Amino acid sequence: MNIYKAPVVSNQKIGKLTYLLKAYSPEIANNISPAQFCNIKVSESDFPLLRRPFSICDVDDKHIYFMFDIHGEGTRMLAAKNEGEKIDVLSPLGKGYALDDDYDTAVLIAGGIGAAPFPFVTNYLKGKKEILSFIGGRSEENIITYGFENYVIATDDGSSGFHGNVIELFKSRLNSFQKERIKVFGCGPNPMLRALKKLCIGENINAEISVECAMACGFGICQGCPVENTEEHEKYSLVCQDGPVFNVKDVII
Ligand SMILES: Cc1cc2nc3c(=O)[nH]c(=O)nc-3n(C[C@H](O)[C@H](O)[C@H](O)COP(=O)(O)OP(=O)(O)OC[C@H]3O[C@@H](n4cnc5c(N)ncnc54)[C@H](O)[C@@H]3O)c2cc1C
Ligand code: FES
Repeated sequence: MNIYKAPVVSNQKIGKLTYLLKAYSPEIANNISPAQFCNIKVSESDFPLLRRPFSICDVDDKHIYFMFDIHGEGTRMLAAKNEGEKIDVLSPLGKGYALDDDYDTAVLIAGGIGAAPFPFVTNYLKGKKEILSFIGGRSEENIITYGFENYVIATDDGSSGFHGNVIELFKSRLNSFQKERIKVFGCGPNPMLRALKKLCIGENINAEISVECAMACGFGICQGCPVENTEEHEKYSLVCQDGPVFNVKDVII
């Protein structure tokens, strides 16, 4: 883990509230895995004091990409970064998805900005596994398809694709899978992950989820990101250090 000053190459608006930031950093690009994250200091001043965590969205040989929605002041400042400005990035952090396990089909399930880690996941898996993606959002304008291949869409209001949430859509397609040969990778809001966990445990499907929580340090010092374990001998894990990816069987969300 190191701090890097990465010059912004481009910062494009790709959705109503969604941005894709590309920065130059061969060091980060070559030392980070899908669904690991970086902790970014979004301003040169003391405000906001804390870094903000972002999944690595994609990499190429020399560049890193972040995809983010504007939530508050920190993401608003990040959205205002111009070409040539440097971002201060602590990386690599956390543990990513176990993508190389023995399975045939990777089922990627994204809710809203939970789409962020999947372009890297998709590129990593291409040619190795079959990939099928389920993308969900409140309505059409919240659907992010950037970097996905072979996807279906669900919207809560029915404005695009399946009318319902993305877990209901996945459930409706379960019969088309050989359940013991798929592995599910989920990222999105915790209520979505909770429903995914329940479904996958009930159907005995191997699944990993990237858990959402507020963070401060990002590397195990502040103890500010606990998640409850299912194993009683060790009651809590830290999302930043032991996750953000966990097997659905291991955590209570
Ligand atoms: C491991 C990890 C990876 C992440 N990856 C991405 C990503 O790739 N793209 C992206 O857009 N966002 C991502 N997030 C969430 C992102 O860190 C927050 O949106 C960001 O910190 C908000 O900063 P802000 O200053 O704009 O908003 P703040 O002013 O800090 O918060 C605005 C509102 O958002 C809520 N909020 C802040 N952080 C979170 C959170 N983690 N979960 C739920 N609600 C929150 C606050 O409670 C508040 O209501 C990730 C979070 C984690 C823990
Ligand atoms: S954010 Fe500090 S311990 Fe996890």
